[in-house]
Amino acid sequence: MFTEIISFQNSVIVTLFVVGIAYFSSNRKYKPNEKQIPSPFETIKKSVRTDAVYKTSSFSINTIPSLVGKTAVVTGGNKGIGYFTVKHLALNGAKVYMASRSKDNATAAIKKIKLEAAALGKNVDIDFIQIDLSDLKQTKQAGIDLAAKLKSLDILICNAGAYLGFLDNPTNDFRFQVSVDGYEKTFVTNYLGHFMLVQQVLPVLLKSRAHV
Ligand SMILES: NC(=O)c1ccc[n+]([C@@H]2O[C@H](COP(=O)([O-])OP(=O)(O)OC[C@H]3O[C@@H](n4cnc5c(N)ncnc54)[C@H](OP(=O)(O)O)[C@@H]3O)[C@@H](O)[C@H]2O)c1
Repeated sequence: MFTEIISFQNSVIVTLFVVGIAYFSSNRKYKPNEKQIPSPFETIKKSVRTDAVYKTSSFSINTIPSLVGKTAVVTGGNKGIGYFTVKHLALNGAKVYMASRSKDNATAAIKKIKLEAAALGKNVDIDFIQIDLSDLKQTKQAGIDLAAKLKSLDILICNAGAYLGFLDNPTNDFRFQVSVDGYEKTFVTNYLGHFMLVQQVLPVLLKSRAHV
């Protein structure tokens, strides 16, 4: 009987102890002298300048200087941003190489730019060179051929890009794709292919810069 009373008393003490810890933990507040760590969000909020004045760029297609005598290469210029880049470089007098993977698409794009230029009373000088940036061997050869053909290279725009296997591209089947060289295809198209092309034409680019 006596041991049972002691055991019951111990259980009550243990229970009160646990409940007490739980109660005080839930009501615990930081004391003023305690070091409080600000949340990352607060830190970012404090670092954002509210007095900054951002100037808009004065650049527009009308401020492009004359590019007569300049040579430019634009990768993937047959559509999108590349198409307009080729068009405005050419309209301002540059000789432009449209470096695209599809001859049909590039030829159609060049024809369209020439018609648009004619409507403005201008002649444009645009040539197609075939390049598939997802194929490093082909890209290297195309770069070597291009470098041999160029007397100078003043502007190189590495514009072509693909988002293969990404959800925001409705035209693909979302599968991880591997290039002929065994790299992930988006990475090789956007980065390695351009690196390979630049390597081949860099001597011409540097030589042309020396004459500016
Ligand atoms: N549009 C945007 O909002 C945005 C935003 C950020 C960055 N960018 C970048 O800006 C660049 C142009 O964008 P965009 O919207 O104009 O793209 P786009 O309309 O899809 O045009 C991409 C161009 O790249 C070419 N291309 C794709 N894979 C190629 C390959 N393996 N070899 C050679 N050419 C290839 C395409 O040729 P085909 O016609 O043969 O496919 C096309 O001419 C891309 O690098 C993109 O990543 C765009």
